[in-house]
Amino acid sequence: MQNDHELTEYQTLSQTLSQLDIQSDAYIPSAIIQELRDCIRYFDQTYYIDSQTAIDDFTYDQLYKKLQALETLHPELHDANSPTQRVGGSITKDFPQVPHLVPMLSLDNSYNEADLRDFEKKVRNLAKIDQVTYCVEPKFDGSSISLVYENDGLVRGVTRGDGLIGEDITPNIRTIRNIPLSVPFSKHGIQTIEIRGEVLISKAQFAKNNQDRDAKGLPALANPRNSASGSLRLQDSTEVAERRLEAMMYHVSYAIDKEGNDLLGSQLNSRHQNIKFLCSLGFSVPDKEHIIAQNIESILDHIHLWEQKRESYKYELDGMVIKVDDIQLEEQLGSTSHHPRWALAYKFSARQAKTRLLSVQYQVGRVGTITPVAKLEPVAVGGVTVSSITMFNEDFIKEKDIRLGDFLWIERAGDVIPYISHVAIDERDSSAMPIIFPEICPVCNTALIRIENEAAWRCMNFNCPAQITERLIHFASRDAMEISGLGDAIVRKFVDKGWLKNIPDIYRLPYTEIAGLEGFGKKSVDRLGESIELSKSRSLSKLVFGLGIRFVGETTAKVLANAIARLEDFQTWTIEQLLQLPDVGPKVAQSILDYFSNPENITMLQMLREFGLSLDNEKTHSTEYQTGHLGNSVFLFTGTMSLGRNEAKAMVEKSGGSVAGSLSSKVNYLVVGEDPGSKVDKAQKIGTIKIIDEPEFIRLIS
Ligand code: IVH
Repeated sequence: MQNDHELTEYQTLSQTLSQLDIQSDAYIPSAIIQELRDCIRYFDQTYYIDSQTAIDDFTYDQLYKKLQALETLHPELHDANSPTQRVGGSITKDFPQVPHLVPMLSLDNSYNEADLRDFEKKVRNLAKIDQVTYCVEPKFDGSSISLVYENDGLVRGVTRGDGLIGEDITPNIRTIRNIPLSVPFSKHGIQTIEIRGEVLISKAQFAKNNQDRDAKGLPALANPRNSASGSLRLQDSTEVAERRLEAMMYHVSYAIDKEGNDLLGSQLNSRHQNIKFLCSLGFSVPDKEHIIAQNIESILDHIHLWEQKRESYKYELDGMVIKVDDIQLEEQLGSTSHHPRWALAYKFSARQAKTRLLSVQYQVGRVGTITPVAKLEPVAVGGVTVSSITMFNEDFIKEKDIRLGDFLWIERAGDVIPYISHVAIDERDSSAMPIIFPEICPVCNTALIRIENEAAWRCMNFNCPAQITERLIHFASRDAMEISGLGDAIVRKFVDKGWLKNIPDIYRLPYTEIAGLEGFGKKSVDRLGESIELSKSRSLSKLVFGLGIRFVGETTAKVLANAIARLEDFQTWTIEQLLQLPDVGPKVAQSILDYFSNPENITMLQMLREFGLSLDNEKTHSTEYQTGHLGNSVFLFTGTMSLGRNEAKAMVEKSGGSVAGSLSSKVNYLVVGEDPGSKVDKAQKIGTIKIIDEPEFIRLIS
């Protein structure tokens, strides 16, 4: 990890250097070159080794280009170890190091149309032809890898490392499910092949991983790229497998047959054919995402198309890559020491903005974790206005040296939550004040505690009103008891009114009083009642998750629900018994033990049981809906049901009843939704049919 002080120093230096006028006589070139080299090396290290984004791409490129230009102007200051003379940063020592079969170069970056037009023109000039064909595809924002297959088997998966030598992370690579382990390359005459690509975490999986982290009381990860590259370097490959990494392969860098003949440029002769070829062999490739373009206008069209599409795309993209399609031409164009002349990365517009930190609010989470939240002067970043942003914990504030009144750089990657990248140190004035983390809970005034080895300060008062509210919100949330009528705002309102003090209160809400509240019509009160009623039939694992026991995420909740006949029986369990359960380590076990040894919690569970919630093992009782109790009752629905016909039908059938196709004397219940048809009249005429509304139906079913 980087030292805080050094980091801020380099960040300040990078801002100054990137704005430097290198033609000016006011500077001593040797000193400036040295500073630029140091600065670039430093940020290479933070990016490639520590998986940290400590500088924005644009500033980095400015530094790089300035250094290149100065070195060209002053050949007498040449240094073989300058960052411009090699491919990347350095290497971590934890994994065996292996050379790449072909150096892993990075791409030259461009930020506007003019750069692209220049590049395209330069390619035609260098190639001395009027029309060049290009392959244009998204630039995936993940962690680059290279895969080597020999004799049809995956033999190595390697990170980029310094571009010449990477880290052999084969065991971790093998856990990635969309990387085939054996591929019939020999059928195509290929003995050894090196394929390049990117390891990614989909946006959805990233959000899910963060939810799981949150449930376990761990801080959120900043973005999918950091999460992917961090995961790839984990020492334990079973842990890697849980991260659900994916790989997108886009490039063949080396291929020989068994006589050692080079197949690139002959059998494998174009970039877009390589994509098709890899696709046919079962690799994930940008098949639908790439195009073949014959001129700059089609290149630009495709780029603009993806500038729109990126928001809704499954993975994070940071730009587009334009490659000369013909591999022979590519070889003819060659590379500089840093990047190929046959390809260019077009970076999507920076999603960064600078704004002032106005104040810090301290939020109390469900398990008492105190999260400092930066209140900002509102600023637009990547299409959203940000006025409030998490600072995770006290260490984050210290590491970034954030002070009140500072200007902060906010970044937003795709539709990921915006985050604070760094402080604009050069704009700090003397009025900037250090942030003093509170010593007592901002809601209940209990002294805060920081448990050893944890980054968070916590309020340990289980009855802290903030924790109660958060627990209720969690209980009613979609992943837990799915009480759709009881969202965040309503929970807060009911807590304020004094109607909700604990979970059982949800099942004894004063509906008549609620109906008198502004904004609550009969319909919404009915809907609230229905969704609360329906929650009684949720599975035990959802209930366990909903209780918000510290470190018990969805997976552990399922394990617990399956391990017990009656939930309250956990009171008699010992820590040793809990440790026998899958997914339960010492921290989790202790937390479960603490929860069930608290008599208040047991009383609360018993109350829930009395209210009709299902607290019994899923294996012995189907808890989704109680089965069998409807006997052979026949139901018919009319009008629009908020439940949905299919769900209503499934509920009837699970409870042992059936649903009729039309009205007859065989029908026992006619369930009337909104805007019913003529069936109600007809049912009344038949006389033996019970006419009920939706809330009554739900009560009957559960
Ligand atoms: S081509 C020699 N294609 O971007 C160039 N790279 O900044 C071979 N990247 O190191 C790479 N998507 O990790 C290529 N569709 C794509 C890409 C891509 C992402 C990454 C790759 C490369 C970096 C360069």
